[in-house]
Amino acid sequence: MKSKFYELSTQQRLQELQKAGYLTMDDLQLLIEQPALPEVVASNLVENQIGSYPLPLGLATNFLIDGKQYLIPLATEEPSVVAAASNAAKRSQASGGFQTRVQRQGLSAQVVFQGQLTDAQVFLQQHLAKIKQIAHQAHPSLQEHGGGLRQVSVQNIVDYVEFNLLIDTGEAMGANIVNTIAEAIGDYLQQQLPQLSLLMAILSNDAPTQMANASTKIAFDQLATADLSGQQVAQKISAASDFAQISPQRAATQNKGIMNSIEALILATGNDTRNVNAAAYSVLNDTRKTWSNWHVVDQYLVGEISLPLPLGVVGGAISTLPLAQLNLRLLQNPSAEQLMGITAAVGLASNLAALRALVTQGIQAGHMNLQLQSLALMAGATALEVDTLTEQLRKQAKQANLTLAKKLLAKLRN
Ligand code: MEV
Repeated sequence: MKSKFYELSTQQRLQELQKAGYLTMDDLQLLIEQPALPEVVASNLVENQIGSYPLPLGLATNFLIDGKQYLIPLATEEPSVVAAASNAAKRSQASGGFQTRVQRQGLSAQVVFQGQLTDAQVFLQQHLAKIKQIAHQAHPSLQEHGGGLRQVSVQNIVDYVEFNLLIDTGEAMGANIVNTIAEAIGDYLQQQLPQLSLLMAILSNDAPTQMANASTKIAFDQLATADLSGQQVAQKISAASDFAQISPQRAATQNKGIMNSIEALILATGNDTRNVNAAAYSVLNDTRKTWSNWHVVDQYLVGEISLPLPLGVVGGAISTLPLAQLNLRLLQNPSAEQLMGITAAVGLASNLAALRALVTQGIQAGHMNLQLQSLALMAGATALEVDTLTEQLRKQAKQANLTLAKKLLAKLRN
C-alpha cells in the first residue's frame, strides 16, 4: 500500500486496495456503483422505508494492533476523524503499535417478576436443568456456534424477583438471541411460579463482561512540535488526561472524541451504536469519568483505554448489510474478540490525536482544510469547483463562512 494514501483520488485508492488484495472486483463495483442499499435489504430492515442514508466511508491507516497491520473502515460525517486516527496511529506504530486485551464472557438478561419468592435459591437449583433445556430449545444453533446459557442467578429485589441470565452469544452481538432465550425462560418460569407476575424479559445493555482494553506507548520524538519538545507535549497530554479525571465537563468532551472513531467503526461493521454507547457509559460514574488515561513513563507517553464493547461479527445487520460485510473483509475477517480489541485501539488513537492537538496548536488548525472543503460543498460547489473554492476560502480563512463561500462561488462561475 502506498504510504501517501490520502493524496490519491478515490478511484486510485480503490485500485490500490484491489491490487493489494484487500478488495475484490465485486467489492469495487459495490463501492462505486451501488453506494445505497439494495431496496430488498433496506425495505426489510425498517418499516415505511423510503430510501437509504449513505455516509462517507474512509479508511484510517497506520494501525499496528497486536503486531498486525490494519486498515480501519470508518463511516462518519465528521471531517477530521479519519485523518486524526491515522495520524495518532502512525505515532504509535513507531514504537510497536497497540496491544489489546479482551474479556468476552457473554451478555446478561433480566427476567423480572412482581412479587416475592421465598426459598429462591432452592427453587433455582430444582429448576436449573429445565431452564438450561428451555434455553437450548429456544435457540438450538447457538450451542453449535460455541455459545449457550452459562449462568443463572436469582434474587429478590424489594418487590421484584429477578432471574439473571448470562448467555454466551458466540461470534454474534446477540441481542435477538438473548431476548429470544430470556422470553422463553420467562414463559417457563411463569408457569412454574403462578403466584408471581412476569413483568419483563430483556437483555441488559450493562455489559461489564464484554470489556476491551488497549494500550500503547509513544516515544517522545513522535510528539514534538516546532515549539515544544516531545517530552513537554507528553507531559501536557498527561496533564490533560488527569484534568478529564477531575472535570466532568472536560470528561464529557474527551469521551465524545473517543466515540468519534469508535462509533464510526461500529457503524461501518453493521454493529449497534446505541448498544455500545449504553454499555460504555454505564461504567462511568463520579469516580471514573472517562475510559482512558495517559501518563509519562521513562522516555514514553503511555496510554490505556478500557471500556465495554459488546460487538459481534455475524448476525442481524452485520450479515445483511453488504458494506458491513465488505468492511469486515477489509479488517481481515476478525473474530468478535479481535474486533473489540481493534475498536478499543481506534478509540485510544482518536483520544491521542485530540489531546495532542488541544495541548499544542489547538483543534481548529488541523480541522481547517476539511472545514473549508465542507463549506465549499455546502455552498454548492461541484466536484470540479471544490478545490479552487477551498483554495480561495483558505486565503480568507479567518472570515470564511457560508455567505463568503457562496459569494466566491458565484464569482468563480462568472
Ligand atoms: C471533536 O469532535 C472531539 C474533541 O473535542 C475531543 C476532545 O476534546 O478530546 C476534539
